[in-house]
Amino acid sequence: MGWWFDGFVGTSEWWRTATVYQIYPLSYADASGDGFGDLRGIIEHLGHLGGKTDSLGVDAIWLSPIYRSPMVDFGYDVADHCAVDHRFGSLQDADALISQAHSRGLRVLLDFVPNHTSDQHEWFERARRSRTDRYRDWYVWADPSPDGGPPNNWLSAFARIGRAWTFDEPTGQYYLHSYTAQQPDLNWRNPAVRAAMHEVMRFWLDRGIDGFRVDAPHRLGKDALLRDNAPDVVDLRVATQLDDRRHRNLDDPAVHEILRGLRRVTDSYPDRVLIGEVGVHHPVRRRDYYGAGDELHLVFDFGFWSNPWRAEAFRRSGAEQHAVIEAGGWPTHALSNHDLSRHASRYAHRTATGLDTDARARAAAVLLTTLPGTTFLYYGEEIGMTDVALPDEYVEDPDGRDPERTPMQWDFASPAAGFSPARPWLPVPQAGPDVRTQSADPHSLLSLYRDLLRLRRTHPCLRSAGYADVHTDPDVYAFRRPVGDRTLLVAINFADTPRAAKIQAERLDPNATVVVSTGARPPGTTIDPSELVLEPDEGLVLELPTGRFGSNATLLRAHK
Ligand code: NOJ
Repeated sequence: MGWWFDGFVGTSEWWRTATVYQIYPLSYADASGDGFGDLRGIIEHLGHLGGKTDSLGVDAIWLSPIYRSPMVDFGYDVADHCAVDHRFGSLQDADALISQAHSRGLRVLLDFVPNHTSDQHEWFERARRSRTDRYRDWYVWADPSPDGGPPNNWLSAFARIGRAWTFDEPTGQYYLHSYTAQQPDLNWRNPAVRAAMHEVMRFWLDRGIDGFRVDAPHRLGKDALLRDNAPDVVDLRVATQLDDRRHRNLDDPAVHEILRGLRRVTDSYPDRVLIGEVGVHHPVRRRDYYGAGDELHLVFDFGFWSNPWRAEAFRRSGAEQHAVIEAGGWPTHALSNHDLSRHASRYAHRTATGLDTDARARAAAVLLTTLPGTTFLYYGEEIGMTDVALPDEYVEDPDGRDPERTPMQWDFASPAAGFSPARPWLPVPQAGPDVRTQSADPHSLLSLYRDLLRLRRTHPCLRSAGYADVHTDPDVYAFRRPVGDRTLLVAINFADTPRAAKIQAERLDPNATVVVSTGARPPGTTIDPSELVLEPDEGLVLELPTGRFGSNATLLRAHK
């Protein structure tokens, strides 16, 4: 293994080496002063992300939904796919964001929510008017079961919602909703739905966006006969076994033809990408969603972000992801997003002096940026933002995900941490990490991310598919990234005490050079990898001297 990907802007496979930064628009920056984040706020902060020497240095931004929405599911209930919600601004603001991001070398990805619309979408308002309306069959309707109850036993993905069916009194049928009752599922078996949603994609692709993050694509295929699930099926545990076909409300084989359709639309524009949030938990089943290179370009790895902070868990993910590459797909790495507790909180550990959220966040930064694949960062991850405990009156989300969606912490010297001049829609904590302080500190997590992303953009080993697991102490996950005559060795100590790495590799040259360490190891130091003792929670990148050209290390500064 080990070929080159020229991922620079202007080539068609830029996404392979990219770092994508997810923005939750309600929480990024409020320029209008109403307490909600907006597109103008994002524009004002683009310099944090790209285009300047001290920018974070990501390649693309992905915006969670910005479309007109009643916000029952905070934008994932779309009432008009071709309008920007008034909280975020206007279509003109979207155009300005796209062009200003592009002028900084940042690509722009939008969320595309194909499985359902809002119940306030005109299509659904028409569909529920009568059984004979021409929009009726755009959604999934069914008669009550003989006892008058829901047509089958399917459950909503949100545990609090219960049944995935709601009875529509005036027309006497149930409609399907895989999430809340205000999010009716579209009927993708209907060619008119496919055509309309393809039009939506073109509307935005024509405006210059660089692709979509596709919401819940595994839900687009469901059993045509609406048969019951096996009684013990709980949505969130689906398909943990390769042959697990006991659930019929998702991952139906029909999904693949639908995805090929989305891909055809995408491929009719140059250099665009489709990234799918495929909630199928078996890694081999999930791999099907790459198709034969004709479905999704990228698939999120639910296994990776569900891992406990243990070397063997990430080592297993590394092997699964390598299998994705061998099968012709391309892996993704994310540890946080708007549906998950932030990993700085999840992986925090108790020490003698309190809760440490920083050490593992640093090690995770090394992991996220040095494995072969596309990296995804969630806003605030670059400064180590944690979940924010919220008083009950603020808990609004139907699935309780508010703590990981609180406003971006720009500057604690300003009101609402610089997020908004008004009362923010979700509260900001009294103190915590912020961009202003970390920008000025060469040893901050933000500085570490800047350095790692520079390395990721420029080091040939990190722009290739080369990967080999290295045998080590069980608490250490180490891998090599070889390309041509150069090799990086990455080692992460998952223990909170020092560990002899016990690296076992053939022909290990004793003169490795430290490129970056999250510990106290100065860059440029020469060390013998076979003698390596890692500090607690240390993430380390070494350049191994290979080939007759010897070491050609890229040096970065120390981070402690
Ligand atoms: C997955 C999204 O990430 C989540 O936030 C949303 O609630 C559901 N899909 C429904 O769209």
